Amino acid sequence: MTSRPTIEDLSNFWMPFTANRQFKAAPRLLVSARGMYYRASDGREVLDGCAGLWCVNAGHCRDEIVAAVKNAAESLDFAPTFQMGHPLAFEAAAKVAEIMPEGLDRIFFTNSGSEAVDTALKIALAYHRARGEGQRTRLIGRERGYHGVGFGGISVGGISSNRKTFSGALLGNVDHLPHTHNLEHNAFSKGEPAWGAHLADELERLVTLHDPSTIAAVIVEPVAGSTGVLISPQGYLKRLREICTKYGILLIFDEVITGFGRLGRATASEYFGVTPDLITLAKAMNNAAIPMGGVAASRAVHDAIVQSGMPGAIELFHGYTYSAHPAASAAAIATLDLYRREDLFARAARLAPAFERAAHALADAPHVKDVRNLGLVAGIELESREGAPGARAYEVFVKCFEAGVLIRFTGDILAFSPPLIVEEEQIARMFDTVREVLSAVR
Ligand SMILES: Cc1ncc(COP(=O)(O)O)c(C=O)c1O
Repeated sequence: MTSRPTIEDLSNFWMPFTANRQFKAAPRLLVSARGMYYRASDGREVLDGCAGLWCVNAGHCRDEIVAAVKNAAESLDFAPTFQMGHPLAFEAAAKVAEIMPEGLDRIFFTNSGSEAVDTALKIALAYHRARGEGQRTRLIGRERGYHGVGFGGISVGGISSNRKTFSGALLGNVDHLPHTHNLEHNAFSKGEPAWGAHLADELERLVTLHDPSTIAAVIVEPVAGSTGVLISPQGYLKRLREICTKYGILLIFDEVITGFGRLGRATASEYFGVTPDLITLAKAMNNAAIPMGGVAASRAVHDAIVQSGMPGAIELFHGYTYSAHPAASAAAIATLDLYRREDLFARAARLAPAFERAAHALADAPHVKDVRNLGLVAGIELESREGAPGARAYEVFVKCFEAGVLIRFTGDILAFSPPLIVEEEQIARMFDTVREVLSAVR
């Protein structure tokens, strides 16, 4: 039910990734949600064009997930997973493992994507050390990559605004591949861009520069969301896989947004037909009902670490109090059951062509300089206003919200990633609203 916010003072909550002063001068508050819609504090229904933050893939407040969380909260509020266990943790891990690429069936739970990334980086270092190659400590990320906000994640990440303030404290042993975004070659690509696979060969250059014996892992997003919908070019990930295999470097796919159906398959790894050694997960793993993330590790990686420990000794000195929290685990089990029962990944795949058509219909809308898409992800890049990068997309975002559609923006790139239960008319409404707003902003 709707209710007007009674909070008089918004100053206490220091908001994440938000222009706090601007927001608090004109707040946008969501008070409830169901299915494809939020309800705003002024009573308006708002169509969710971005699954919350790329995470509510089954739609909001699904009864089965709510019931599972409620039941867990009532029957086992908390149980440690350090030297103890509870059945929901093992069941959740088994269900996640079931839909991971073959062999990546050892699941380490975290509470967020950022923690999943830092966990995967640590697992990579631990793996090499366990095999007697402890000198492999260098991590390779990519320009424009987003891997959350831990020190590991911002170090391998490639977004200067997320790095500059903390630049003195970034991990030292890191290098970056070039990003693959190039509108001269790839503007208005439908699906995987045709140009750019050769950029994976830059890894060969880094290997030559640093020597393979110093490199532990490469981490990339198969499709980057937070940095403006950047889609791996055809053949690019396969090439990265080949080079990593050749030099004994672990390949990590950050699937925090692509995991659980966003591309019409359980994982982007499955979609692209390329299997990494580690996959980072979060968000849609339990439909974001309770914070949860995780790492799916190959048996080879897992076994190298776990078999190398002395019997009775802890093998990996890493974990979180809330790793596999009972309520989060229960939500994951219910969510994964729901995805399967409603065949939501296949539904996303079926909707993808209509979604692509609707997105690309905006190619001739005012200010649009690119449209790109894959699965149920689309990005619309706008011309920036002279001297005010990001201002136009922000205005579009606010006006869309006022018109009852929630979208995301990064810089001057609009991003669309609706829940997988979206209907075709809702897809049309999302993009029609954006077209109208684009015609209205200067
Ligand atoms: C690819 C990727 N990795 C990591 C993260 C960080 O996840 P979290 O915000 O749950 O820490 C995100 C969040 O958007 C992401 O898109």
